[in-house]
Amino acid sequence: MKRLMASVCLAAALFAAPAHAQATKELVVYCSVLNEWCTLMVQAFEKKTGVKVTMTQKGSGETVTQLRAEAANPRADIFYGGVGDQHMEAAEAGVTVEYKSPMLAELHPWARRQAEQSGFKSVGIYAGALGIIWNTEALAKKKLAEPKCWSDLVKSEYKDEIQMSNPSSSGTAYVALATLIQVMGEDKAFDYLKKLHANINQYTRSGPAPARNAARGETTMGVNFLHDGVAEAAGGFPIKVAAPCEGTGYEIGSMSIVKGGKNPENARLWYDWALTAEAQNLAKGAKSFQTPSNMKASAPEQMPKMESMKLIDYDFQKYGSGAERKRVITRWEKDVGSLPK
Ligand code: G6P
Repeated sequence: MKRLMASVCLAAALFAAPAHAQATKELVVYCSVLNEWCTLMVQAFEKKTGVKVTMTQKGSGETVTQLRAEAANPRADIFYGGVGDQHMEAAEAGVTVEYKSPMLAELHPWARRQAEQSGFKSVGIYAGALGIIWNTEALAKKKLAEPKCWSDLVKSEYKDEIQMSNPSSSGTAYVALATLIQVMGEDKAFDYLKKLHANINQYTRSGPAPARNAARGETTMGVNFLHDGVAEAAGGFPIKVAAPCEGTGYEIGSMSIVKGGKNPENARLWYDWALTAEAQNLAKGAKSFQTPSNMKASAPEQMPKMESMKLIDYDFQKYGSGAERKRVITRWEKDVGSLPK
């Protein structure tokens, strides 16, 4: 009871901010989760605070590129969602600022670790594992077996049946490269990616696109975060998902405050609120089934159970470094992306 009262008081103190604490009535959010979730968050925040939010949805790789390009005259206040590696890179590049939210105490250790590893320039808002998704009807029609392992995806019978996003624009694809390197070792991972290239019908700009396209029958399979496949299944599409048998990586979806943004008080107001159970419980209403970072948020029933998967000990420090991202993506473009089909 005491703890409950303490958190009620904390929440009251956070959100009953005096009028003079809000220097402006605006906030600019660059949002890298699914558009439906971005929109729900914006509507709820505007209703709660009266702050007018301008939101742009883009993949996490693209957002970091944009934040770097705008560093001399930043347009955004908040970078919300998208893979943690990209938030680590933004922190390292100096385009985001340190902030220790009073809400940190309510978060799972993995979300606080993201804060610590980024020098408190970022924080975990959700977690989600990477894997394989497929359209069950398309697979059955083509008499193809269900994929269970990374090794299945390079089989010749899956030629042109798979989509994956492009690592230069998509954080999902970058997590896929980093995962395969950590599972197989770098040279073997690149040999694998070259073979996989023969089975790829398109590298999409955004991470969730392969799942969306598979739902609509435009591809049979995709390399995706599993929750992006589950979102399509929840929308009534014939989609199934699997965590690869060899082991898989995962993301700590994160949030950061942009350095030099025009509305820093409102940025902190959004940040603190986005870490509450109340805000995180909105996600499932937008069919976003990641694991929430607030320990009091309710886990959606459809949420892929990460504890039942073989997860690798993903090296967020290493793969969150800008130099490493550049090196890995440059090698992918040279060795894989430029290969003829
Ligand atoms: C989707 C997923 C998020 C992920 C994001 C990354 O929105 O639901 O969990 O963080 O994609 O997007 P990107 O386009 O950068 O791969």
